[in-house]
Amino acid sequence: MPPIETQISALLPALTTLRHELHQRPELGFEEYETQRRVTDYLRTLGYDPQPCAKTGVIADLNPGRGGRCVALRADMDCLPMQETTDLPYRSVLEGRAHKCGHDGHTAALLGTASILAEMREEIDGNVRLIFQPAEEGVDGGGARVMVEEAALDGVDEIYAFHNWPGFSRGVAHVCAGPIMASVHDLVFEIHGVGGHASQPQVTRDPVVAGAALITALQSVVSRNISATDAAVLSICTFQGGEANNVIPAHARLTGTLRTFDSDVAEQIVDRIRAICGGIAGGYDVRIEPEIEALYPVLINHADCAEAVREVACSILGPKNVTEEGLPLAAAEDFGRFTERVPGAYFFLGAGENADSPGCHHPDFDFDDQLLPMAMRLFVRLVENRVGLRP
Ligand code: NI
Repeated sequence: MPPIETQISALLPALTTLRHELHQRPELGFEEYETQRRVTDYLRTLGYDPQPCAKTGVIADLNPGRGGRCVALRADMDCLPMQETTDLPYRSVLEGRAHKCGHDGHTAALLGTASILAEMREEIDGNVRLIFQPAEEGVDGGGARVMVEEAALDGVDEIYAFHNWPGFSRGVAHVCAGPIMASVHDLVFEIHGVGGHASQPQVTRDPVVAGAALITALQSVVSRNISATDAAVLSICTFQGGEANNVIPAHARLTGTLRTFDSDVAEQIVDRIRAICGGIAGGYDVRIEPEIEALYPVLINHADCAEAVREVACSILGPKNVTEEGLPLAAAEDFGRFTERVPGAYFFLGAGENADSPGCHHPDFDFDDQLLPMAMRLFVRLVENRVGLRP
């Protein structure tokens, strides 16, 4: 078997092309049919028996039925519903769809890893499950939940995944034990009042004024109810109500998001939000219906697994290039659905050239292809460490 570096060099040109082709034809959550087909075809040529999972996802085992440990590696595949603004030769050709989180790169990196592992198949003293997940960006509650329901983790001992992150310097791995990304609750507040002429507010029950009071009152939750040693973000991001400047509307709607790093803190905040809605509704004589949906749990890295990532990253990148700095992030990820079930760890690979590098979800963002070999090395070494090699 050729050394891993030789294999990576040989794979990179085609893998980079594949990444660009995925970038050009991005697909939204649970619509990744073309991506699923490409992943499936690629894995078949390597001798895997890939199976569909969670509608548009794919799972494949390196050594099905072989005893020993089983480590899962996961990549997400979906794009975002946004417009590409770059003039890249491989920019998205599909209106309102773009790979602006780099999931095209995650998919390509895991396919490259699959290729190297296929060469090592006999040598590996156990199994590796490759998990290509649809719908990480939140469509219908996310793809991880469905994959877990469809038994994607059966027989899996540990699971790992990475995300590119332009906010961190290129070539630096960021990993920590414990919470690494936040939980998310989606918040919607429907405020029902009584509309009327703007000149006669005394005969209305104004949902706009009640909405303004609600936004202000919600600011007290994190600042007054949560301990200084806990962290949470509660943001109200939209406020819609009315259409004319002389009509008090009957209805207003607020939406926002809640992020925490601890499920007890999240529960406490949700209780406070409901209580405040009741108080504002009573005080302003309107009806407020809060819809609070727990979208993703806190993503918690298991200590052993985070340590394994740290060790492997230190050996590949050098200890100077492995850090906990900047963690946890208040962004969210449904990888936490996997680590709720089995031990695992999530890590970031820095992709930033400087502080101005467009971040994930920015219209000018593009996955940094220099991360492909780095991610492949890390994944393969993790497998060697956590599954083991035959003597
Ligand atoms: Ni992402």
